[in-house]
Amino acid sequence: MNPKLSLVLVICMLAGITAKKYDEFTYNGFRRSELYLDGMAEITLNGLLRLTNTTRSQRGHAFHKVPLHLKNSSDGNVYSFSTCFVFAILTEYPGVSGDGLALVLSPTRELAGALPKQFLGLFNSTNDGNSANHVLAIELDTILNVDFGDINNNHVGIDVNGLRSINAATASYFIENIGEFKNLSLISGEPMQVWVDYSNLEKKLNVTISPISVPKPSHPLLSSFIDLSSVISDTMYIGFSASTGSSVPSSYVLGWSFKMNGQAAALNLSSLPSLPLKKKDGRKQTSLIIWLSLGIVVFITITAFSIAYIIRRKARYAEVLEEWELEHRTHRFSYKELFKATKGFREENLLGVGGFGRVYKGKLPTSKTEIAVKRISHDSRQGMREFVGEIASHSQLRHRNLVQLLGYSRRKGEVLLVYEFMCNGSLDKFLYDANKPTTLSWSQRLNIIRGVASGLLYLHEGWVQIVVHRDIKASNVLLDAEMNGKLGDFGLSRLYDHGSDPQISHVEGTFGYIAPELTKTGKATTSTDVFAFGVFILEVVCGRRPIMQQQSLDLHLVEWVWRSWKNGVILEVTDARLGGDYDLGEVELILKIGLLCSHPVVASRPTMRQVMQLLDGDLSLPEIPKYGSGIS
Ligand SMILES: *[C@@H]1O[C@H](CO)[C@@H](O)[C@H](O)[C@H]1NC(C)=O
Ligand SMILES: *[C@@H]1O[C@H](CO)[C@@H](O)[C@H](O)[C@H]1NC(C)=O
Ligand SMILES: *[C@@H]1O[C@H](CO)[C@@H](O)[C@H](O)[C@H]1NC(C)=O
Ligand SMILES: *[C@@H]1O[C@H](CO)[C@@H](O)[C@H](O)[C@H]1NC(C)=O
Ligand SMILES: *[C@@H]1O[C@H](CO)[C@@H](O)[C@H](O)[C@H]1NC(C)=O
Ligand SMILES: *[C@@H]1O[C@H](CO)[C@@H](O)[C@H](O)[C@H]1NC(C)=O
Repeated sequence: MNPKLSLVLVICMLAGITAKKYDEFTYNGFRRSELYLDGMAEITLNGLLRLTNTTRSQRGHAFHKVPLHLKNSSDGNVYSFSTCFVFAILTEYPGVSGDGLALVLSPTRELAGALPKQFLGLFNSTNDGNSANHVLAIELDTILNVDFGDINNNHVGIDVNGLRSINAATASYFIENIGEFKNLSLISGEPMQVWVDYSNLEKKLNVTISPISVPKPSHPLLSSFIDLSSVISDTMYIGFSASTGSSVPSSYVLGWSFKMNGQAAALNLSSLPSLPLKKKDGRKQTSLIIWLSLGIVVFITITAFSIAYIIRRKARYAEVLEEWELEHRTHRFSYKELFKATKGFREENLLGVGGFGRVYKGKLPTSKTEIAVKRISHDSRQGMREFVGEIASHSQLRHRNLVQLLGYSRRKGEVLLVYEFMCNGSLDKFLYDANKPTTLSWSQRLNIIRGVASGLLYLHEGWVQIVVHRDIKASNVLLDAEMNGKLGDFGLSRLYDHGSDPQISHVEGTFGYIAPELTKTGKATTSTDVFAFGVFILEVVCGRRPIMQQQSLDLHLVEWVWRSWKNGVILEVTDARLGGDYDLGEVELILKIGLLCSHPVVASRPTMRQVMQLLDGDLSLPEIPKYGSGIS
């Protein structure tokens, strides 16, 4: 065979194959389609062919790229053809119609002079109706335009060379079982299927429409005898056209199939791309938006609250821990632990309010140990290290007549001291609280005095450093279950090394317990502690406050006892609640020790060691020197 000839044959065969291939096509979605687009037409990401978007006065065209040869060139007959497509028109506002769309057969893909506003993007005012157009269109018209003889604003029409339809009908479909046509709304937003069939033999053009859920009805909506040979040119392009007028619908084509000389392949309706949210369901969409926004608001609120809760929780339990604190062997409680132990420092856990802070009862969550937590505000950062050092020292002090400091905790501007819990509270309540049904017996009082003396001696002499308590008074003596007195609250005491000069500081202590020299020198010493202890003894025996109110005059307890003693009626000062149930000799001795300790002359006061000896009877009571002018 001639190689040239065979090459030509091959080319012809290839051409035949290609030609044949374009005699039919099927698009279930347009993602892989061969369309020529112009104007607003575009293929969306999910494969919808969108002819118009919401921009006004625009047009969109989409033509199959390859021209069709619908005409037998030898006899001029137009071949049979069949096409079907699924479309949907989404309107911006429900019920407001747009311009619709049209299936078009045209000799060109451009439709050059077509107006955007009108004529479905097919014609302009001069060429509308011109037989030179060679245009066949199936219009899905949603506008009633009297100029074109439209029947209504929801019709299907067959247009030849112009928009004045040769045949038109209200959009409707034939329902088989009742044998009637049912109206359809083209702008419902629902996808609908259209079939256009032309029979070469009958010279008949049928147009059928139905909702997507209904298979092709047996009766077409439009059926026209028409010889297309004068309309169809040798090469024709097939496609869609749409325009947006004053209203702005979006026209979509979801799938399309075509076949020459045969039935167009049925579309696979389940694989068509889905439409965007329907404008028709404006209300649904609005409510969806409302629900979504509500959801977002709720979500944000919950998130914000959670964050606030976490921040508050963090702030609530925030504490300060510095490196130097690790040197101390003192137990450090976590703030959270104390917070939980005291049930969040609730009012009902409040044991009392002292000069330095509030004291709360608590129970350690793990060990169930009962504790008393004293909250002391401490703002100075400089003093903090010193202060904590002092606390650390105090926690080393161990005596059965001292309230044990168990540890501490620290947060910004606040120090929390944790003490052992004393179930009977402070002594002053027993002495002065009229509501207390029980009164302290003489032996209990004596035991408390001995205990406090023993504790104070330990502070003064029993430890590596001298500890001056500085605030001995009945309210600082706490009672345990057996009514043993324990000296508490070292909040005011200062430490100084043995042998060194006592620090000079401003006068601290409680009025009525302050030794006369302390107000002059400002030096707190063991002697000033002894003075306060003397007042304390008299307080316990007499059941009276150090400064008494008598006939609106301030009367010092010490002076009163001193005078009574001088007048030989010392036993008249004892607490009436004792009911005389005591050893006279013991009471007299204790009162005299009290007077000796609270002597205005420093040199006359015994040391705590001597006080212990006096109490134990190991030392005989010296002559009490005459009270001078030190006391008024
Ligand atoms: C509509 O399509 C045109 C052309 O593609 C584009 O310029 C315009 O921004 C689109 N309008 C909207 C609202 O999407
Ligand atoms: C074209 O028309 C001629 C004359 O009527 C006929 O013989 C021929 O088969 C037709 N071609 C096709 C493809 O139908
Ligand atoms: C109408 O369109 C034709 C081409 O189809 C063009 O020649 C003509 O100028 C257009 N007329 C107007 C008024 O745009
Ligand atoms: C269908 O719509 C047309 C035009 O709006 C109307 O005249 C006709 O009565 C409707 N038919 C039915 C069955 O509703
Ligand atoms: C057009 O519809 C009629 C029924 O109304 C039918 O007889 C005819 O075969 C149809 N023609 C085509 C090409 O589908
Ligand atoms: C139609 O499309 C679905 C989903 O893409 C697919 O599962 C099914 O096989 C298709 N049917 C036909 C007849 O092609």
